[in-house]
Amino acid sequence: MEILFQICLVISSFLSFSHCLDNGLALSPPMGWLAWQRFRCNTDCVNDPKHCISERLFMEMADLLVSEGYAKAGYNLISLDDCWLDKERGSDGRLKPDPFRFPSGIPALADYIHSRGLRFGIYEDYGNYTCAGYPGILNNMKLDAETFAEWQVDYVKLDGCYSFPSQMDKGYPEFGYFLNRTGRSMMYSCSWPFYQLVTKMEPDYEAISKTCNLWRNFEDIQDSWQSVTAIIDYYGDNQDTLIPLAGPGHWNDPDMLIIGNFGLSYEQSRAQMCMWAIMASPLLMSVDLRTIRPEFKAILLNTEIIAVNQDPLGVQGRRVYKKQGIEIWTKPVLPKSGKKYSWAVVVLNRRVDGTPSQVTVPLRELGLDSEDGYHARELNEHKDIGIILPDQAIQVDVNPSGVVMLKCTIIRVPPFSP
Ligand code: GLA
Repeated sequence: MEILFQICLVISSFLSFSHCLDNGLALSPPMGWLAWQRFRCNTDCVNDPKHCISERLFMEMADLLVSEGYAKAGYNLISLDDCWLDKERGSDGRLKPDPFRFPSGIPALADYIHSRGLRFGIYEDYGNYTCAGYPGILNNMKLDAETFAEWQVDYVKLDGCYSFPSQMDKGYPEFGYFLNRTGRSMMYSCSWPFYQLVTKMEPDYEAISKTCNLWRNFEDIQDSWQSVTAIIDYYGDNQDTLIPLAGPGHWNDPDMLIIGNFGLSYEQSRAQMCMWAIMASPLLMSVDLRTIRPEFKAILLNTEIIAVNQDPLGVQGRRVYKKQGIEIWTKPVLPKSGKKYSWAVVVLNRRVDGTPSQVTVPLRELGLDSEDGYHARELNEHKDIGIILPDQAIQVDVNPSGVVMLKCTIIRVPPFSP
């Protein structure tokens, strides 16, 4: 890996800044906690010290990530988002945090988070300013990448406000190059395709997936079911473009999990969790871990669903059926038997009639055609369904704006083929 990385640096110094993300990171979709969706740009630490963007908030969330079992389940990142910066750079030209809200400084916060066994993420913007108007990295890319490395940053979210989308094909790889050049492995989260799509440009996804570990393609998630379903529709409608891009090291990012906040019902929260899992999406919670209700916490900590998301094959799921408000999504997962896979299946009910919809899931039609059959299990309720052969079907009752998520584990009859 080290040698590859060196070669990559040499080549990239000849070939401008292209195509050399080889940081060995994000082999499964990143998991962690991001501030933005829940805490936004609340800078009023005088009147609202518990919720403002401050070192205290991130330290408390880091503590809870560990003490409440999230870290053990895989959520191992704590990331700043917008509004951590001071309005001006320091006299040395370096970025610095707001001194009142981050009095100990960023290295101390990074230390605190690392000492709890977690990764530390930071937010910046490719343009002149961040979306909330703090200094961006334009014209300071090398210095800022070096500063992040000195601060022991593990994850960089690079937004794209106040910049020209037409310059991003050069700018995002350039910053990626400077990150690589520091020698510190930092996960690179890009907003590059989103800003280009907004201005009707066609993103160079080949370059994007070679430069970034994850990237946003669609609008910001908001605290509503309507927002969640708009994202799901975007991913379904554009799946032939998006699915081939995803894989170990590089992921489409449909934005944060809003489970445990104000806008989603219990069923809708299960639906977001299962859909993000089957879409092999980063699982980045944005919720107040101090006050989250136990039933929402349990959804986020469902290890069987997380395992589908984190499956080593890293294949993004596909919408294979959509009719009258019912959708079926499938994703191949391990274990394999010969050339055939196990499968995760989500049945999503978008209907709002007040009674569950009975849905028949015919295995062979969905591509589950291993003649020895599958062990089927429902992952929200942790219930075994039994052995199902390809010509059989599974009947499920799916609650309004809810989901059923099945794992169909292939039955391997000895002798196993390689
Ligand atoms: C953009 C991003 C969000 C968030 C805000 C911060 O809208 O897409 O995820 O980072 O900026 O201002």
